[in-house]
Amino acid sequence: MSFNTLDGVDVKGRRALVRVDFNVPMADGEVADDTRLRAALPTIERLRAGGAKVILLAHFDRPKGKRVDSMSLRPVVGPLSVLVGTPVGFADDCTGPTAGQAVDAMRDGDVLLLENLRFHAGEEANDPAFAASLAENGDLFVNDAFSAAHRAHASTEGIAHILPSYAGEAMRRELEALDAALGNPKRPVLGIVGGSKVSTKLDLLKNLVEKLDALAIGGGMANTFLFAQGAEVGASFCEKDLADTAREIIDLAKAGNCQLLLPIDVVVAERLEAGVASRVCGLAEVGENERILDAGPETVAKLESVMDGASTLIWNGPLGVFEIPPFDKATTAAARHAGELAKAGRLIAVAGGGDTVSALHHAGAADDFTFVSTAGGAFLEWMEGKTLPGVLALQARPADVN
Ligand code: 3PG
Repeated sequence: MSFNTLDGVDVKGRRALVRVDFNVPMADGEVADDTRLRAALPTIERLRAGGAKVILLAHFDRPKGKRVDSMSLRPVVGPLSVLVGTPVGFADDCTGPTAGQAVDAMRDGDVLLLENLRFHAGEEANDPAFAASLAENGDLFVNDAFSAAHRAHASTEGIAHILPSYAGEAMRRELEALDAALGNPKRPVLGIVGGSKVSTKLDLLKNLVEKLDALAIGGGMANTFLFAQGAEVGASFCEKDLADTAREIIDLAKAGNCQLLLPIDVVVAERLEAGVASRVCGLAEVGENERILDAGPETVAKLESVMDGASTLIWNGPLGVFEIPPFDKATTAAARHAGELAKAGRLIAVAGGGDTVSALHHAGAADDFTFVSTAGGAFLEWMEGKTLPGVLALQARPADVN
């Protein structure tokens, strides 16, 4: 997909409104994980180096159109200033006179963060008047928030119809990596989809079996597939009412020539507790009171051999309950294997989604992956084959700043 970038754009003296995603984990009012702040740095640096005034638009949490003090973006200012290497200004409102005066006081190269967009109902309603009030403070719009691009909000969609609009550096990297993984991939492409529920990933599974050469299903959702094929799943989490749907996906995979990889052995325990007694068993040997909590070693070995023959891997969702050892083994082993292949240049390995990123960090493999998306919901919607309004809007009007 084509979109405008900042390449060749003269931003000197211009007010660049940059949509970032600073919806970061907070603990006791402090930023607990600065990954998303770091992700915004290349765009901020690029604009500052070009002499722009950098005005950051962001949301935090879901205040539902009202000012909620505990959802202020103010705690972001300190850590962001350290990362940018210069004091970042803050305006107590993202629109109106407070924002206007703060923007008017900026010099070229300054960085200003505006207060939580979602304190105004117009943001989530994509109200054109609210989008216009945001746009008053800018000469151009840069969207660097792929992870919020599945929302058709004023700051992600509406504003792009008003100002010349560009993809920022993080957005560009994200779109290029995702295109390399699913849009226009080097084949064979292997997908790994895990997590607990089939019900939350139906559209995603249906889209993937039509596009991929192989798809491994893990986590709790694999139990539903095993049950649909007649296996005993004991006391495991299983969406038995979705057995028909699982069979439909199996048929779609066959029709689409997508090799479906389901667990061939499993790790079971009677309770989900750290360090609890567990055992590896075959699919026919799961006891009535036992729960399947991870994929077994034969399943991992099979997955690794398919990975060895793949050129591209796209991964969303863990293979077991990786947060609670020993049920992290399959996810960790598969993640490390993928990381090693990617590091050796033999595999394009792309992963995304909240749990997946934590699982890769847990395995120590995240840095070896070709690309790890910071997006949750947006990554899923993109894997479902949906067009993201924030990305589409970047083509809404031609770039005409020069
Ligand atoms: C995210 O954290 O996935 C994005 O910031 C979107 O947040 P939202 O789900 O509240 O729109």
